[in-house]
Amino acid sequence: MKQEIGKKRIIIAIDGPAASGKSTTARRVAQQLGYTYIDTGAMYRTVTLKALQQGVLDDLRNSPESVSSLLQDIVIRFDGDRVLVDGRDVTAEIRENRVSREVSFISSLKPVRDRLREMQREMGRQRAVVMDGRDIGTVVFPDAELKIFLVADARKRAERRYAELIATTPKGTELPDLDVLEEEIKRRDRDDAEREHAPLRKHPEAHEIDTSDLTIERQVDIVYNLALEIEKDDR
Ligand code: DC
Repeated sequence: MKQEIGKKRIIIAIDGPAASGKSTTARRVAQQLGYTYIDTGAMYRTVTLKALQQGVLDDLRNSPESVSSLLQDIVIRFDGDRVLVDGRDVTAEIRENRVSREVSFISSLKPVRDRLREMQREMGRQRAVVMDGRDIGTVVFPDAELKIFLVADARKRAERRYAELIATTPKGTELPDLDVLEEEIKRRDRDDAEREHAPLRKHPEAHEIDTSDLTIERQVDIVYNLALEIEKDDR
């Protein structure tokens, strides 16, 4: 659907824990509104992948400030559904479990947050974006006209991640156990909520939606209708 002339272009911030349905909801709402979708989790994943590929994770644990060199010339770009870092397509690689396991550590580092926050603000400068993450409504765009906080039961979220892994990992690759995935998700929830910088929090103005028993269509509908109301109000 195309953006209608005269309508206000708003920012929609969608936050919530891992696998709560943020990216699917955000992508579809963006499509329906003619907005740009920005997956900020993918941005933290690209930095994590780069650290893994350069073999510097252990060094970073000992001296976190050395992360600056990793960030120096990094170029993160979205091209439709593809994610490119320094010109290379990393869409599949950033979803690998080895990245998921380390991304909370990388995203707890202040220089990483500072750098990516600035990139995200730049990407949303023209508004008309749907951005999902952990701190979009609280830190990156506290003035977002629509703030959503998605939650869901941990087991349901592990099942979703499992289905996603089946769909995206090459045949023959061993997949982690569902219980292990659930534990990892819970650990990541804790890490993301308890970290010092920009922890996962619900903004007081955010609409909380529990997606445990909602279909994708239903959750998209709820967010889309809220967005339409705000666009209308602000015309
Ligand atoms: O949404 P995701 O699972 O792809 O996010 C990966 C990690 O990135 C998540 O564990 C926490 C971090 N993250 C963050 O700290 N801030 C954001 N705005 C988005 C993601």
